[in-house]
Amino acid sequence: MSAPTITFDDGAAYERMMGQWSGLAGRAFLEWLSPPPSLRWVDIGCGSGAFTQLLVEHCAPMTVEGVDPSEGQLAFARERLATPVARFRQGDAMALPFADGTLDAAVMALVVFFVPDPAKGVAEMVRVVRPGGLAAAYVWDVVNGGGPSEAIITEMKGMGFAPLRAPRAEASTPEGLHALWVRAGLADIEARVIRARRTFDDFEDYWSTTTAAPNLAPILTTIATADVTQLKSRVRDRVPIEASGRVSIEAHANAIVGRRPGIMAGGGLPLHEG
Ligand SMILES: C[S@@+](CC[C@H](N)C(=O)[O-])C[C@H]1O[C@@H](n2cnc3c(N)ncnc32)[C@H](O)[C@@H]1O
Repeated sequence: MSAPTITFDDGAAYERMMGQWSGLAGRAFLEWLSPPPSLRWVDIGCGSGAFTQLLVEHCAPMTVEGVDPSEGQLAFARERLATPVARFRQGDAMALPFADGTLDAAVMALVVFFVPDPAKGVAEMVRVVRPGGLAAAYVWDVVNGGGPSEAIITEMKGMGFAPLRAPRAEASTPEGLHALWVRAGLADIEARVIRARRTFDDFEDYWSTTTAAPNLAPILTTIATADVTQLKSRVRDRVPIEASGRVSIEAHANAIVGRRPGIMAGGGLPLHEG
């Protein structure tokens, strides 16, 4: 039997756990990026459309092309965003289905560390945007403990269990992201840390939501019930539980943007409009 990997094949399940987190971090990312309106976007690894929805609602795009390999995720995205502005199609970050220079902005929201060859993925972002266009991304800083399921990961490791890791986790660090953007020849590179905080009704809400994450669920099903009970108890002791019973968790992501160099009619896009 092959070793389990992180998969994204159920849009509704994704939405409950990571889609909510994506919305929180994505808002902070777009507040920072503050892109001008009327752009032709590609949302690479759009998944269930959580970030695509933010683009449509907050960035007044001309069009958004959502691309993802997972039909299960795309089906959810198509249903959630029934607008002619957004279109979704199956595709791979390393071979985008667009002609050279035909878009204004390319973005990867929580995706670059899942792309088997991240450098090829960033090169594709650069290829499809026009000179002066933007290539941007944000990704949980999983190497430095920034992901939303960090408390459970730490306790699992403490008990000798190995949660699943994004295959190219090294691409998520500030240095890893910066090196990718430099190597792709992007100019005017800016980067920052994005923080997101999510509050759960109580510990049970936190536990059931977070253990459904695709990096934890496949491993937890292989662990003996007594060990899961012990893990849960250790995590309960670790996370901050408010007097009200609520659990408030902070995660952080690294964000980056750069511009494709070159001259275009009318000048380059501003990196930030607002
Ligand atoms: C953590 S999800 C992010 C989804 C969405 N961008 C969001 O912010 O909620 C990662 C997504 O990357 C997609 N993905 C994995 N490998 C990919 C590849 N080679 N090219 C494009 N997308 C990929 C997965 O199918 C999944 O939908």
